[in-house]
Amino acid sequence: MSDLVERLLAAMTLQEKLGQLNMIDAALPTHAPDEMTRQVCAGLIGSVLNVYGAGTTNPLQQLALEQSRLRIPLIFGFDVLHGHRTICPIPLAEACAFDPPLWERTARIAMDEAGRDGITLNFAPMLDVCRDPRWGRIAEGPGEDALVASRYAEAKVRGFQGADLAARENMAATAKHFVAYGAPAGGRDYGSADISERELAEVYLPPFEAAVKAGVAAIMPSFNDLAGIPMTAHGALLKDLVRGRWGFEGVLVSDYNAVGELIAHGVAEDLAEAAALALAAGIDIDMQDQAYLLGLPAALDRGLASVADIDRAVRRVLTLKQRLGLFDDPYRRVAAPPLSLDTLAQYAEVARDAGRRSIVLLKNERGALPLKPGAQRIALIGPLGDAPLEMFGCWFAAAGLEAASILDGLRAALPQADISHVPGVTVDGDDQGGIAEAAAAAHDADTVILSLGESKDMTGEAHSRGHIDLPGCQRALAEAVLALGKPTIAILTHGRPLALPWLFERADAVLATWQLGSQAGHAIAEVLTGAWNPSGRLAITWPLDGGQIPIFHSHRPTGRPGHNDVFYSNRYTDMPVEPQFPFGFGLSYTRFRLGSVTATPEFAPGETVTVLAEVTNEGALEGEETVFLFLRDPVASIARPVLELKGFAKVTLAVGERQTVRFILQGDDFALLDRNMRPRVEPGAFEILVGPCADRSRLSSVTVRCQSA
Ligand code: NOJ
Repeated sequence: MSDLVERLLAAMTLQEKLGQLNMIDAALPTHAPDEMTRQVCAGLIGSVLNVYGAGTTNPLQQLALEQSRLRIPLIFGFDVLHGHRTICPIPLAEACAFDPPLWERTARIAMDEAGRDGITLNFAPMLDVCRDPRWGRIAEGPGEDALVASRYAEAKVRGFQGADLAARENMAATAKHFVAYGAPAGGRDYGSADISERELAEVYLPPFEAAVKAGVAAIMPSFNDLAGIPMTAHGALLKDLVRGRWGFEGVLVSDYNAVGELIAHGVAEDLAEAAALALAAGIDIDMQDQAYLLGLPAALDRGLASVADIDRAVRRVLTLKQRLGLFDDPYRRVAAPPLSLDTLAQYAEVARDAGRRSIVLLKNERGALPLKPGAQRIALIGPLGDAPLEMFGCWFAAAGLEAASILDGLRAALPQADISHVPGVTVDGDDQGGIAEAAAAAHDADTVILSLGESKDMTGEAHSRGHIDLPGCQRALAEAVLALGKPTIAILTHGRPLALPWLFERADAVLATWQLGSQAGHAIAEVLTGAWNPSGRLAITWPLDGGQIPIFHSHRPTGRPGHNDVFYSNRYTDMPVEPQFPFGFGLSYTRFRLGSVTATPEFAPGETVTVLAEVTNEGALEGEETVFLFLRDPVASIARPVLELKGFAKVTLAVGERQTVRFILQGDDFALLDRNMRPRVEPGAFEILVGPCADRSRLSSVTVRCQSA
């Protein structure tokens, strides 16, 4: 511990210590300016959230530095999930790029912009693996797979924090929400997660462990309870596992009001008990509800909490402030000169690149895409065709931001085309009055582009949906247009996969474009025109119907594996077991062929295995292919998933080019958790399956053998 931290701690009153643990939302009326001023001057607030911009953060920082007794700088926390002023694709979209260097690049530009606005603690990355598209927060995370989420965690932590937290362009990242928040009962936000110890260890914990290994500065426990223990009070996981076994030395910051909510969870009688439980579980910063400030004095009196625990938490908070360089120069980030137009243009290019790489081409028949160049009449039909704000998705903050709508993008990319736009219906209304006009416009066009989907506030926190289809009257609009029999391309704007089998059946082409941020329209236009050959792949299994949820690629085989036409099998009587599109699925304008797959045939436990796979571009365009490597352990002491993702790689191939993709599997890639939850590699055969997506029929396999130790 540093001298500075110890000196400050020794000089603090109990109230000042609790102040350091108190984080307040400065954007809320409960903390109107007078009350903020009073508390900051009294040293009763250690960090602030939800404000940004030098004009707001500097005056508060000045109060802390010039008016409070110990002159301890404030931390400013904010949710910068996919950009601050330059908005990049939502995380679920960006996950579909399967591109860690890209994930890191977009994080870096977000930090540069947010740092200049005074932010020093980012409440991101969000690492909740999720297999339930009803859950609105699926949009904020990296999808269904633990390995993808782990690679995403490392890239984002590197991008947000850089090598040195004190550097102007870096800030503290928060791995959230720890843990199993993505598995709420019924897909309803904040719901209980009741999953097995094995699922927790195999699916939900790994991304957080990866973030800790990457040096993440903060972790936010989730709102949910895990089998009856609210995560805000989960000492066994927070203290014993995260701090103990993983060696995490950073700060644990509660979610918003989550300490006080321990009362509603039914594990605390009052604020004192709630605060004592959270503190005992290792939570350092109490976000917003002042449970520590108001509850811990009583908890101390009642012998429920100890000053030693409070001191430990204060030390961690002060250490974070020191690591961020706040004691040396708290204005370093905001003092940076404004970004030059050149830099902003470069950032826009990063957002556009991320946008095009996130788009997944789901269907393309009758040569519908790419659009032919030159003069033509295009009817852009649908409520999201010219809706720039809807392109941002959840979590964007800076006011006055502009995005390129789909219409903007099309007009810029196809100056000779005659492009009309008719919304037809609103995203979520029940007025069908505009459908006739839309159908007439479609009737007169050479090509119809249907722009359908969700508005930006249909995903994100507290936005779970029971039906994952098109809201409002959009289906009626789409059916009226499809009935014309014109070449029709559907562009989906969405924060979750949408179950729309009828659309996939009837449209000639469908693009999943998610919510791509500032450059959405341009990125989409690049794919429509073929300026970019689509390369995105689904980071989430796409259900055929909401009734299939949860559906994901790494399920177990069961004793009666599901076959639609085998009666006593793991199936439905009224719908298929297969998803609409498997994990990893995505089309290209070119054609890739996977050639031979070879692997080290035998290995001893702990040894690496090299896998080589040949990929050839047999089509007529350059393109990027994503190659997935899955493992299958057919006989083991614990039933293993039918497919376990162990690697993914991207290759860019010129026309006719062939490349060999190399994967190195580490010894522990073959390990399972045995019946005592201890990792173990069991001798015997393993199947290695390589290919373009989690559809077994499209994977090439090779068997390797682990010898007895
Ligand atoms: C609640 C959300 O769950 C969390 O993700 C976010 O960081 C905080 N609010 C602060 O905005």
